[in-house]
Amino acid sequence: MKILIIGGGNMGQTYATSFLHAHIVKPEEMMILEKSATKAAELSHQNIGTVHELPHDCLPAADLIILAVKPQDAPQLFEMIRHMVDPQQVFLSIMAGIKIETIRALLGVNKVIRAMPNLPAQIGMGMTVFTSSDEVTRIELVMVQNLLNTTGKAIYVEKESLLDAATAISGSGPAYVFYCMQAFIDAAERMGFTAPEAELLTLQTFKEPSICSIKMISPAMNGSTRSLQEVVRPRPLCNILMKIR
Ligand SMILES: NC(=O)c1ccc[n+]([C@@H]2O[C@H](COP(=O)([O-])OP(=O)(O)OC[C@H]3O[C@@H](n4cnc5c(N)ncnc54)[C@H](OP(=O)(O)O)[C@@H]3O)[C@@H](O)[C@H]2O)c1
Repeated sequence: MKILIIGGGNMGQTYATSFLHAHIVKPEEMMILEKSATKAAELSHQNIGTVHELPHDCLPAADLIILAVKPQDAPQLFEMIRHMVDPQQVFLSIMAGIKIETIRALLGVNKVIRAMPNLPAQIGMGMTVFTSSDEVTRIELVMVQNLLNTTGKAIYVEKESLLDAATAISGSGPAYVFYCMQAFIDAAERMGFTAPEAELLTLQTFKEPSICSIKMISPAMNGSTRSLQEVVRPRPLCNILMKIR
C-alpha cells in the first residue's frame, strides 16, 4: 500500500514517523508532498520516505492520500490536484472544519475519511476521532484505524458532527488541563510552597491513576473537596465545553 502525505508540517511528519516506527509502512511505500522547497529539502534528510514538490510525481501512485495542510490552503490544493485523482483512492483528511461533503465535491472523489487528531499525537499519546463516507470499505477503515493508532488511540464514530465535539473535548482538552495545572502550581507557590514543591504536588495529584481513584474509592465528596466542587461546579464547565464546538 502506497501512502502519500500532502503537507510535511507538524502533523504530516508525525504521521510519517509514527507509521514507520510502528513498522506498519515501509519507507519505500511512504511519499510526502511538500510545497515549500526549503522544508522539502529538510524532510528529504529525515529518511521518512520520498519527498516530492509536485503532485503529478507522486499522487497517481498513491492508494491512501493524507490531507495534512492548513484548512486555508485546501481550496488551492484541491484545485491543483482534482484532475489527477482516481475514484479508487482513499482520502484521509485531518484538516479542521472541512466537511466530508466539501472534500467530495471539490475533489470529485467518494472515498473520504475525516479524522480529528490532537496535539499529543506528536508524542504517541494522541486521541483521534474519525468518520467516513459510505463508500469507504470496512477493510480500508481498519487499515486507517491501524495507522491512526500508531499516534495513540483512535475511535470511529458514525456521526460527522461528533468530530466538532471531539475538538472541544480531546482537541482542546490537553490545553485546558495544562492551564488548570498551571493555576494549581501558582496557587501552591502563593500559599508558601517552593516552585519545585508546587510542581511535584500538582504533577503527582494530576496523574491519571490518582484522578481515577476518586471515582473508585470516594464517589461521595465531603469536607474541603465538596467546598471546591461548589465553587467550580462541574455543570457550568460542561456547558462551556459544549459551547466550544
Ligand atoms: N497540529 C495539530 O495538533 C493538529 C491537530 C488536529 C488537526 N490538525 C490539522 O492538521 C493540519 C496540518 O496542521 P499542521 O500543524 O501540521 O500544519 P503545518 O505545520 O503548517 O503543516 C502544513 C504543511 O503543508 C504545507 N502545504 C501547504 N499547502 C500545500 C500544498 N498545496 N502542497 C503541499 N504542501 C502544502 C505547508 O507548507 P508552507 O508552510 O510552505 O505553507 C506546511 O509545511 C491542519 O489542517 C490542522 O487543522 C492539526
